[in-house]
Amino acid sequence: DPKDLTEKPLAGKTVLLTAGPTREAIDPVRYITNRSSGKMGYAIASAAQNMGAKVILVSGPVALEAPNGVERHLVESAKEMHAKTLSLADKADIFIATAAVADYSPANIADQKIKKSEDDLSLKLAYNPDILFDVSHQFPNLFSVGFAAETEHLVEHAKAKMQRKKLDMIVANHVGANKAFDKDTNQVEIIVKDGDHDKQISIPEMDKSELAFKIMNVIAENA
Ligand code: CTP
Ligand code: CA
Repeated sequence: DPKDLTEKPLAGKTVLLTAGPTREAIDPVRYITNRSSGKMGYAIASAAQNMGAKVILVSGPVALEAPNGVERHLVESAKEMHAKTLSLADKADIFIATAAVADYSPANIADQKIKKSEDDLSLKLAYNPDILFDVSHQFPNLFSVGFAAETEHLVEHAKAKMQRKKLDMIVANHVGANKAFDKDTNQVEIIVKDGDHDKQISIPEMDKSELAFKIMNVIAENA
């Protein structure tokens, strides 16, 4: 039935997503994190689900419920998100990395609460694994989609990330004061791999749930 096909363009496909921030422990009562509400990722999970996909969501700590029917795995640190996501990647046809993963974590986690003194305190940070890079390189048949949060040179930086991480598509959004975070709307540029010359699609500012459908439609057309 062609009608079903247009309504459920992702029927039979499995979509794996990361969403939300990660939390990197400093000691038992403190952590480092990134600004992220998880709203965009959860809206995309929900859109994919509505379009007929089986959806698996690997999520950092957020104040959001799992969308109905979505299989959610809650994690905290980037390393946990990395391990969980890689263990699920062989089930997926499409991978969408919306998470705001911490690029570094404290090199040593103190067992006890760090007590203050009047001296300055330095934290040594260690590089975290890149989930998207590892998924796209270890699972080359997956359609891999990244998100690039940039404060400047939006499209240029996004294209460089698309190359480095071997992506099929990247969604670039401007972040910074009053942009994207904790807001219900967003404005993005989508870049889709298309041989030598990539396609660029500008999506005007709109509600994140509406934007999620637009992004998922571009993915469904190209995956
Ligand atoms: N990403 C990831 N694992 C990481 C870091 C980033 O999976 N350890 C993913 C994000 O989910 C996003 C994409 O990579 O889809 C780009 O993230 P971003 O932070 O914009 O890029 P980085 O490569 O980390 O570069 P930088 O932070 O220096 O701009
Ligand atoms: Ca980063």
